[in-house]
Amino acid sequence: MSTSDLLKYALVLLLPAAYLARRYYHSAALTPAPDPPPAEDQPVKSIMQAPKDDLAPPKDDPFTLAQLKEFDGSDPSKPIYVSIKGTVFDVSAKADVYGAGRSYNIFAGKDGSKGLGMSSLKEEHAVPDYVDLSETDRKVLDDWHGFFTKRYNIVGKVIDHPISAPVKTEGSDDPTPNL
Ligand code: HEM
Repeated sequence: MSTSDLLKYALVLLLPAAYLARRYYHSAALTPAPDPPPAEDQPVKSIMQAPKDDLAPPKDDPFTLAQLKEFDGSDPSKPIYVSIKGTVFDVSAKADVYGAGRSYNIFAGKDGSKGLGMSSLKEEHAVPDYVDLSETDRKVLDDWHGFFTKRYNIVGKVIDHPISAPVKTEGSDDPTPNL
């Protein structure tokens, strides 16, 4: 077999493996294993930061998606915000991952719910409209929402989110969720 054939086979085998590794890399950390309980002298080690017990009470300040862009980490004098399903979290404490040029800056200054649900870091996926996510990906998205809620202060909500923003239904004065 020639070297180029070997390379082709290696690619065919490695690409799906890399995709799966990336897809499921955080799932164990996001969804705690139910059993067995860890022995006291063997604490579970996680790559993810631990939940915080000193969070401030959630705030309800309104943000438009355009306003959120100001908080994308490009100006070090401003906080960094990440929105998930319209909930705006202050992630400034983790500027090492959300700051300009860092691994998860793609989610800073915006609502990238769809990308979080898909476990994707692609620019085109980091958008607020997650309506076409599968049930499995919605669960992943909800897990991320729970993860952030336990670790970051909530500073407000997105008022023009394409899914959670209330819309008026024709013939009715009642705002109805856009789902
Ligand atoms: C194999 C590929 C990946 C590796 C090795 C990896 C590794 C890591 C590590 C080590 C952390 C902990 C960072 C820290 O606390 O400083 C982390 C957190 C995180 N990862 Fe990944 N990751 C990968 C892929 C992805 C993908 C595709 C996404 C897209 C959703 C993603 C989203 C996140 C998020 C949102 C956090 C939470 C950061 C926080 O706020 O604490 N990762 N990842």
